[in-house]
Amino acid sequence: MAEPLRIALAGLGTVGVGVIRLVEANAQLIARRAGRPIQITVVSARDRNKARGVDLSAYAWEDDMVILGERADVDVVVEMVGGSDGPALALARTTIEAGKALVTANKAMIAHHGLELAGKAEDQKVALKFEAAVAGGIPVIKALREGAAANEIERVYGILNGTCNFILSTMEDTGRDFADVLAEAQAKGFAEADPAFDVEGTDAAHKLSILAAIAFGAKIDFSSVDTAGITRLRAADIAQASALGYVIRLIGMAETEGGNGKTALFQRVQPHLVPVDHPLAHVDGATNAVVAEGNFSGRLLFQGAGAGDGPTASAVVADLIDIARGEVGPAFSMPVGELEALGPAATGHRQSRAYVRFMVADRPGVLAEITAALRDAGVSIESLIQKGRSGDAVMVAMVTHEGPESAISKALELLEGSESLTEPPLVLQILGE
Ligand code: HSE
Repeated sequence: MAEPLRIALAGLGTVGVGVIRLVEANAQLIARRAGRPIQITVVSARDRNKARGVDLSAYAWEDDMVILGERADVDVVVEMVGGSDGPALALARTTIEAGKALVTANKAMIAHHGLELAGKAEDQKVALKFEAAVAGGIPVIKALREGAAANEIERVYGILNGTCNFILSTMEDTGRDFADVLAEAQAKGFAEADPAFDVEGTDAAHKLSILAAIAFGAKIDFSSVDTAGITRLRAADIAQASALGYVIRLIGMAETEGGNGKTALFQRVQPHLVPVDHPLAHVDGATNAVVAEGNFSGRLLFQGAGAGDGPTASAVVADLIDIARGEVGPAFSMPVGELEALGPAATGHRQSRAYVRFMVADRPGVLAEITAALRDAGVSIESLIQKGRSGDAVMVAMVTHEGPESAISKALELLEGSESLTEPPLVLQILGE
């Protein structure tokens, strides 16, 4: 069998330990599939003495992880340190500049610096791979880069954050509070080090921007993802959605405008109401799911574990097997020079139905004030419910008929500063077919 592919691991948290376990457990199978053994030679992490539950004695230890790619006993560096900048980015740059391949699970770094790194990798003719950065164990990057490569992808969307999905589906099943369920998600190990990245939608936005770049052949543009998280959702929203035949899921959605002559890129992460008969409504717990609509393939649905040591390690090692086979290919499915720079799409003309929730003072005339603003803005109400007293504010929740998003924005502008509202209204789009 050919010479082993020699691997350096940077970062020995949940994913790093998962990679060690997987490479050790499936060594024979991996070697047969890759055509050569995959051998970890050196590891590095912030704290050498931390108990990790794996035996590191077979591997060299490197104190300065940034120079891992410069070592003579390393062909590929796997970066599992995290963070968009700092040591992770320094390591990525030095590795590629040293002419070594880089595999990373770091969605923040790819969302912010993916183009630069992909350009460097092209110059050096080395692989840059990041299957583990999006949707954990689901091989969706590979599916879009390779399996669906012949298609014009018209839309890509899905559930991209396991923590939020776990929180929402658990709140739905148990009626428990947001904070209580978040603590459980953190204990289970799928939340980010800073859970704000999960619950504010940033993590899903990182992943969406990567998917959009690959799906549409566009330059990655994380900064224009319209992002909202799940922190404003109340148990009452979930109950109300359920009464109307929906579940609430944090959905990342991207599409291009202008058909084949693409003109703009729409990217949004926001909780959506998902009809109970939609496949994404049945995605529960820390599971992720991605839908891609190709002009010849039709709708493709990918589903699986979006986080955790085993699934994420599976994605990392799949990248290593590709590299062992000699696959270098462009990181974003076409060379950086071919990627289009698409500006952010305007959203006002987008047609959809929406769930709009107001928290209001319970006194005469409040409902009339809200419905007058909606009337004046041209928003048509499909259904409306007012829930009984809860302290001194009550909830008024409605579903609108299909209309432009600009009409709802206009209605909210008309209500701005109204003393009847005890907090800003919450608007959630309803996922269509
Ligand atoms: N915090 C992420 C999630 C982990 O909950 O999906 C995987 O990226």
